[in-house]
Amino acid sequence: MDDLFPETRERLSLSSGAVLLGGFAQAEAQALLHAVELITQQAPFRHYRVVGGGRMAAAMTACGEYGWVSDEQGYRYVRTDPLTGRPWPALPSLFLALAGRAAQAAGYAGFVPQCGLINRYAPGAGMGPHQDRDEHTMEAPVVSVSLGLSALFQWGGARRQDACRKVPLHHGDVVVWGGPSRSHFHGVLPVRSAQSGTGLGCRYNLTFRVVD
Ligand code: SIN
Ligand code: FE2
Repeated sequence: MDDLFPETRERLSLSSGAVLLGGFAQAEAQALLHAVELITQQAPFRHYRVVGGGRMAAAMTACGEYGWVSDEQGYRYVRTDPLTGRPWPALPSLFLALAGRAAQAAGYAGFVPQCGLINRYAPGAGMGPHQDRDEHTMEAPVVSVSLGLSALFQWGGARRQDACRKVPLHHGDVVVWGGPSRSHFHGVLPVRSAQSGTGLGCRYNLTFRVVD
């Protein structure tokens, strides 16, 4: 996989307000995965429907005050997990602390997420270019943590037709996008089952969001 030198990956500006913090979550990656495991015992991974038909390739769940869902009413945030009928599991303090530190490092002080969306990509699964715009406020950034298998992140512009840059994301990498980049298009190319060094057969992505 094409890659950049480690020293340039440590802090790589993607566009104004968007930055890759290479390896930012590396030290706590195992603890994050353990927390994901506990969350999924309460709120199992599921494949939502795509508006317009079909199912999402990535399996999803969530924690926090809100979770993101997709159903016949469309894409939205809800306080109750439709699969279990219970509130989403709480955001672990480990998630809150990491998200706050990463946002701060990217220039966004005082970030307190209301949702931790958890995606699981099996080999072959990806996510087409889209904007994150189901949140009721766009003031706060999105903080995204990659774990497990590597993937190529597509980072585009404000318009769908803008050129996409392909950025490799590895275990422990964090991307933060906010401000002028908050509604930029982005996606994930289908994950390949290469050696990850982590022993994990999937890619996990945690995105932290303020919803309202
Ligand atoms: C997302 O766009 O919500 C997920 C991004 C990722 O999996 O890296
Ligand atoms: Fe997204």
